[in-house]
Amino acid sequence: MDPRIDFHSGINQGVAPVTYGQGDRPPRGDYSQARADYTCDQDWAAYSAADHALYRRLHERQSAQLAGLACDEFIAAVAQLGEPDRIPRFEQLSERLHRATGWEVVAVPGLIPEEAFFKLLSQRRFPVTGWLRRPEEFDYVVEPDVFHDLFGHVPLLFNPVFADYMQAYGAGGLKASRLQACEYLARLYWYTVEFGLIATPAGLRAYGAGILSSAGELRHSVLSPQPQRLGFDLERIMRTRYKIDSFQATYFVIDSFDQLFDATAPDFTPVYERVGQAGELEAEERLESDRRF
Ligand code: PHE
Ligand code: FE
Repeated sequence: MDPRIDFHSGINQGVAPVTYGQGDRPPRGDYSQARADYTCDQDWAAYSAADHALYRRLHERQSAQLAGLACDEFIAAVAQLGEPDRIPRFEQLSERLHRATGWEVVAVPGLIPEEAFFKLLSQRRFPVTGWLRRPEEFDYVVEPDVFHDLFGHVPLLFNPVFADYMQAYGAGGLKASRLQACEYLARLYWYTVEFGLIATPAGLRAYGAGILSSAGELRHSVLSPQPQRLGFDLERIMRTRYKIDSFQATYFVIDSFDQLFDATAPDFTPVYERVGQAGELEAEERLESDRRF
């Protein structure tokens, strides 16, 4: 799940569906069953044997590449998702997660509006899309599906510091909505939660969900000489646009989850002010002041 979202209303039952951009693709989830906070029931019985088999293949492919590329905290927690051979029941997963960090996962029909997303995070409830991609989308799916949301995001919610960061992000999102600064805050999510790298004694590792659930970008983000890798810099990140249809041109590297939490703890009101004045940067832009890895 991520907050790159845009309203697209067109039904008069339940809540309004949400789709990416101005595209004419219909929303994939069933929004008519969603509650006012956009959560719904998982309907585990509705998954077919083919769905579970596809989940197993996705899980296998990603798990096989984690060693040496994913951060240790992620690798340690993947097993907590449950049996790798079928889509987990959210209720059972939530029990384990709640015991670890007080978080739970809740089902949603698909993309949800920013405010609803922030609110759930601030309540330590992580929204997970119910539907699974189709077999022909094995390598790439445009919108987040249940595999991306679970495999990519949930393992790190077992880490206490990262779990607190996600809640703080949600509360910060509600505030950013009032300050009309959601675009800046969305970039922070993008370059940390979705595409973040972390420096460890053993070398660079991935912790971002968009990388960890991707067939090709995991290797690319950590090993390819092509992209630039820059030290975490809050205001630099908030100024930097991002690509949604290709591998990232720039990744930002944190030293620790504590650094991420501490750097984002101060009041962002003056930060947004400065970022607005400093102006936007293209995804591949370079600055003198960048700390390169
Ligand atoms: N400190 C931020 C604020 O005052 C809130 C925040 C915390 C945002 C963590 C993102 C991540 O707005
Ligand atoms: Fe995501």
